[in-house]
Amino acid sequence: MTQHVTVNTIRNMKQEGKKIVALTAYDASFARIIDEQGVDIILVGDSLGMVMQGHDSTVSVTVDDIIYHSKAVAPQCKRALLMADLPFMSYTNPDQAIANAARIMQEGLAHIVKLEGGEAQLDTVRHMTRHGVPVCAHLGLTPQTVHKLGGYRVQGRPAADAQQMLADALALQDAGADALVLECVPVPLAIQLTQELEIPTIGIGAGGVCDGQVLVLQDMIGISSFAPKFTTNFLVEGRNIPEAITAYVQAVKEGSFPADEQCFF
Ligand code: KIV
Repeated sequence: MTQHVTVNTIRNMKQEGKKIVALTAYDASFARIIDEQGVDIILVGDSLGMVMQGHDSTVSVTVDDIIYHSKAVAPQCKRALLMADLPFMSYTNPDQAIANAARIMQEGLAHIVKLEGGEAQLDTVRHMTRHGVPVCAHLGLTPQTVHKLGGYRVQGRPAADAQQMLADALALQDAGADALVLECVPVPLAIQLTQELEIPTIGIGAGGVCDGQVLVLQDMIGISSFAPKFTTNFLVEGRNIPEAITAYVQAVKEGSFPADEQCFF
């Protein structure tokens, strides 16, 4: 029987220097292929608001949306760890967060939930992890707050912002977070974060130094309406979809993705 990837597996992978591969999925058909190609983490991301629902941000996604898609993906995760997002405004205090995380795990069958933010989320992360909810934190560009950030752009500049991100990351780890997604973070800062943290960092636009990589499925097969700088189309050179996903897995594992042109410095 295939062994399931767990939070312990990804922590051990960091220690052993083995790259972690993550990819989003929102339906059973893609989830099955992604799991079969050896992706370690399948993320039911709130990016579904953009790539499945056609909105220009993730803000309108609800807990029910996440549960609907997670339920479709879960039975296909024979090996992969199933991570699902807590959407915008579903974790404004620890009690609300744990109630929604419980639904996402019990109804959506996710193994770990992801939430965005640093200092403001410490009590919430502590509350959830103490009650047995695995948590992945998410720093850098946090798409749920795009309207507050004033757009989708690189975070962690200038130096004071980098220091704040480092402090947030260490505090999230102390609060019990099991992993950390870093989105659109300059490579030197991602290096520092990855070296200083014991928990794995999973980058998207944060350089190859991170312990793992995550992409939005539609970006890596070239069917998104907009291709961010940090992605590349793996569905090229006559490949079919399983081959494209295998190529992504291999590229992350051998360190050829991301290349410099997909990074911020
Ligand atoms: O929602 C999502 O797909 C994400 C990834 C971009 C990390 O959070």
